[in-house]
Amino acid sequence: MQIFWYDTIDSTNSEALRRLPELPSLCILAAHDQTAGRGQRGNSWFTEAGKNLTFSIVLKFGQNGIPPLAVKEAVGLNYLISDVVAKFLRGFGVDCQIKWPNDIYVQRRKISGVLIENTLNGEYLEASVIGAGININQREFPQLANATSLYRCIGQEQDLEEGLSRLCSLFEKELPLLFNPRQKAALFENYTSHLFQLGVPARYRDLLEDREFTGVIQGVEADGRLCIQDTEGQRRLYRFKEVGYIL
Ligand code: BTN
Repeated sequence: MQIFWYDTIDSTNSEALRRLPELPSLCILAAHDQTAGRGQRGNSWFTEAGKNLTFSIVLKFGQNGIPPLAVKEAVGLNYLISDVVAKFLRGFGVDCQIKWPNDIYVQRRKISGVLIENTLNGEYLEASVIGAGININQREFPQLANATSLYRCIGQEQDLEEGLSRLCSLFEKELPLLFNPRQKAALFENYTSHLFQLGVPARYRDLLEDREFTGVIQGVEADGRLCIQDTEGQRRLYRFKEVGYIL
């Protein structure tokens, strides 16, 4: 997989979307510094220049060996990238969990976040830009109370380019799983088995009803909704942005 490194760019996701027509069907845009990194829900993604991995994987479906992917199957991309990032971190001995839908946490601190942006052609995905930020060598997070990095977990710095190559290999190895129903089920099981707070009573906020409740994460439905059982035994299903974790 080709990797295009930038010294500085506004956002690797934005750049990938701008350059989409000319980019190969499977490649990565990575930056040593992002000046306008974007996160979920319109948030910014802040990271110290030259310390962390910030990159976007570009996939063009139905081209050069990448099979077509229906929009209703797009949630699989989420399982794939979460599994890959978690596996990458576990390779360094870090015990991490996937905070639904695709944050990676070490204990109660965030080490990685993902922003997936798709372009569509009818009921199929045309392209996907899978942006990920993984905190690698950053030591201090003055503005982010709940952030951590690989360095903070293992006390060793890593070479960023080498790290990204390693992650690329994992991604390329796992990508075919998405297009094989049986292997996709295994990918999904692996994802759910590593969910943060799975089976543990914890506090959540129902963002639709604007109220807090205690519940236990039971798993994720095939369509990607998070299932939390409340103390009355009711199974509540949530889409992204409908529920918040109270940490
Ligand atoms: C989140 O947790 O809110 C998602 C953060 C995603 C950040 C990455 S860094 C590389 C790529 N480029 C961006 O502008 N955002 C993603």
